[in-house]
Amino acid sequence: RSRTSVGGNAQIAWERLREEAMHCTRCDLYKCATQTVFGEGPVDAPLVLVGEQPGDQEDLAGHPFVGPAGQKLDEALADAGIDRAKAYVTNAVKHFKFEQRGKRRIHSKPGAGEIEACRWWIDQERAILSPKVTVALGATAARSLFGKVMTINANRGRALELPGGGEAWITVHPSYLLRIDPAQQADEYARFVDDLRMVRARLA
Ligand code: URA
Repeated sequence: RSRTSVGGNAQIAWERLREEAMHCTRCDLYKCATQTVFGEGPVDAPLVLVGEQPGDQEDLAGHPFVGPAGQKLDEALADAGIDRAKAYVTNAVKHFKFEQRGKRRIHSKPGAGEIEACRWWIDQERAILSPKVTVALGATAARSLFGKVMTINANRGRALELPGGGEAWITVHPSYLLRIDPAQQADEYARFVDDLRMVRARLA
């Protein structure tokens, strides 16, 4: 693509933003994490998927949604007919927050202060991309995008308007599907795929 096109400018702006984010010290999470895990995907993507924060594997790899939750997400996107390569995938919080237990690093939930500090980046990612649809995967992403607590069950399954404008959908986080009682997994997975199918219809 030509560097003088609008898309080219967006690409350059995104690359600058990513580079800046690599040195982020806006909250304390950078002190223990391996690296910033920034969003990835085409800058002209019509769809932005927002997770919570990188997990253990994402922290080491430097890429979002490459671990077990990422595999679940990939499976659901494929079942919903959404090409992940055409979506921009990012997280509300860009450093891994964990507790060290022996050799294991156990995920801890980002707090309101960390979500707030990291909105600096996701707001700019969304401003550069201006996607048609943004999807919050779970409560942390929803809180980041809406700037307040949004319950998933009361808000899923329909188009919502973001505070700064733009369409958003709220659904569960793929790691929720890995965590719940196996007896519920098939139904919950089907509901997640249904949500993603509705999102796909909005992109057509
Ligand atoms: N969970 C998330 O929310 N994001 C990732 O990138 C990986 C796991």
